[in-house]
Amino acid sequence: MAQDTTPLSAAPAPPPAETGPKWYKRPWIVPLFAVAVLFVALRLPSYLSFDTGDALVELQEDFPETHYLLLSGHIAFGSIALLTCSMQVWPWLRKAHPRIHRASGRLYVFAGVVPSGILAGVVSVVSVVGPPGKIGNLMLTALWFWTTFAGLRAARQRRFKDHRRWMVRSFALCFSIVANRLWIGILVMALLPFVDGYYAGDTEAMFADVAVASIWISWIVNLMIAQWWLDRRPKSRRRSAIPRQATATTA
Ligand code: HEM
Repeated sequence: MAQDTTPLSAAPAPPPAETGPKWYKRPWIVPLFAVAVLFVALRLPSYLSFDTGDALVELQEDFPETHYLLLSGHIAFGSIALLTCSMQVWPWLRKAHPRIHRASGRLYVFAGVVPSGILAGVVSVVSVVGPPGKIGNLMLTALWFWTTFAGLRAARQRRFKDHRRWMVRSFALCFSIVANRLWIGILVMALLPFVDGYYAGDTEAMFADVAVASIWISWIVNLMIAQWWLDRRPKSRRRSAIPRQATATTA
């Protein structure tokens, strides 16, 4: 920690504003926002037209309108969650504008995670996906609530290190919806060669497997990447370890 070397006689100067690293020193910020905005722009309109024919997933035959409305709510609030959580992990914004960070954090939790998560639980059960997929989505919903509220509690108790760790996990779970689309593409390519053999030409069965596998893989892998990110050593310590190792071997 920096020591205060100000002479006692001098008038205390206001502490320099801690602005943190510039956005261009965090090259992942721009693609992150781009991905979040693109995902919302590509998906949300199909669920705001109030036309069940626009839905990009299969609706329940018995109650398509209700199913569509539940999805619309889930996706509208989910879009708020996706956009606000991209802001939350931006170090510059956090340090230069802590008020904005707090306001968008409240939006993330109360206008994003809570309503979108409750509706995610409902659409998980209602979805035409089979039980293994429903369980995967319900697990994701539960963990999204858990990590988010653990993060909120830590912030309220001013345990900011814990707050950051829980919120990084919550962010990873929120972005699993984006990763899910990527995994669907990868899994389709991986399973296509097995359509004639294992699936006996039944492409629908192959897509059903892809749907379930992508639900589980997307949030588990995202969570593991988040944990790796949290546990990796800071750059400064990685750098200082090199000369120390070198002196240790030459001593
Ligand atoms: C993290 C917890 C989340 C869970 C558990 C969850 C769960 C679900 C479920 C079960 C469905 C219905 C799938 C089907 O019937 O086949 C769905 C659809 C959808 N969700 Fe979520 N979701 C979550 C977060 C989000 C977020 C943050 C967004 C951001 C906008 C989002 C956007 C969508 C979209 C666009 C669809 C419709 C499918 C499509 O058109 O691709 N979800 N979600």
